[in-house]
Amino acid sequence: MQKTNSEKGSKVSKCLIIVYSYHHYNTAKIASKFSEVLNAQVKTPEEVIPEQLKDYDLIGFGAGIDSGKHYKPLLDLADRLLEVKKKAGFIFSTSAVQGKAKVEKDHSLLRQKLQSKGFFIVDEFSCKGFNTNSFLKYFGGMNKGKPDDLDLKHINADTPELAVSIFPEFRGYGIGVKLMRKLFQVLRANGYRQTSLSVQKDNPAVRFYTRLGYRITEEKHDHVGNEDYIMMKDLVKAMKSELTKIPGIGVNMAEHLVRAGFPTIESLRGKNPDDIYAADCHAQGMPVDRCALYCYRLAVHYADHNGQLPEDKQNWWDWKD
Ligand SMILES: Cc1cc2nc3c(=O)[nH]c(=O)nc-3n(C[C@H](O)[C@H](O)[C@H](O)COP(=O)(O)O)c2cc1C
Repeated sequence: MQKTNSEKGSKVSKCLIIVYSYHHYNTAKIASKFSEVLNAQVKTPEEVIPEQLKDYDLIGFGAGIDSGKHYKPLLDLADRLLEVKKKAGFIFSTSAVQGKAKVEKDHSLLRQKLQSKGFFIVDEFSCKGFNTNSFLKYFGGMNKGKPDDLDLKHINADTPELAVSIFPEFRGYGIGVKLMRKLFQVLRANGYRQTSLSVQKDNPAVRFYTRLGYRITEEKHDHVGNEDYIMMKDLVKAMKSELTKIPGIGVNMAEHLVRAGFPTIESLRGKNPDDIYAADCHAQGMPVDRCALYCYRLAVHYADHNGQLPEDKQNWWDWKD
């Protein structure tokens, strides 16, 4: 079973998914996957009380496409929404026919309505859905089996996908690198082992991401038909090599620390070794050999004293009770 965000111990935003789906419940399948990944509640437009939306940090709006736009109950809800100040939202849909220009257009009415209420749209997602509308029902329909596992795989709980953009006037100051590195830290601290992103093949940012340790793992067309690279970054490899600088912390102990939520030397600073040991036992789901505690005493001292250890306490066994 996938870990929920709360199990990962993260400070997660409160998310809501609003979906209208009736034809073959295609969009409901997408909504259910989003809800699993984001640990979000799912509601239909009729269940939504506009005043209560202020309680959510991120809201997803999705429906099937009818006559080139989202189903009417969802569009009507968008009209009923109260004004918000830059609340994050995302749009999703399933439809019979996909393609860059078409999805842009299919989403445009809902996008426009949400933006006019003050939402900023952080992402959009669309995929094919089984369709037996009109005469198609006599021929077994189109897109049978869609959305399928591959479509749902793109909504992945264990590999958060980053989408980062810097306003043009702030580019060239190294903000992007700092931001990405901070995001890596947050992801590591929340137990994630890898992260992905998609970038258009001809975007010069591909080199930037490569320098940050991403590698190309897949080529695909995105939901609007752009040719993209999927790039993946291993968050654990780099962490382990940092933690293994600490005397007595080998690859195995580094893995323990990462899983316990202490992925960097910085994250050990000022911590109580007993708490780290308790977090380790909790993460492993069983009591860990007490030698680990001695290693953590050494590691915290190392982190607190810029890598310096007392002359007579250079080894983990020097930190026994
Ligand atoms: C009445 C009706 C109208 C539709 N109009 C379109 C359309 O304009 N464009 C399109 O690509 N698909 C169209 N479709 C296909 C649906 O968008 C698609 O099957 C969708 O996955 C259904 O979602 P649902 O199962 O969540 O209701 C239409 C389907 C129905 C039933």
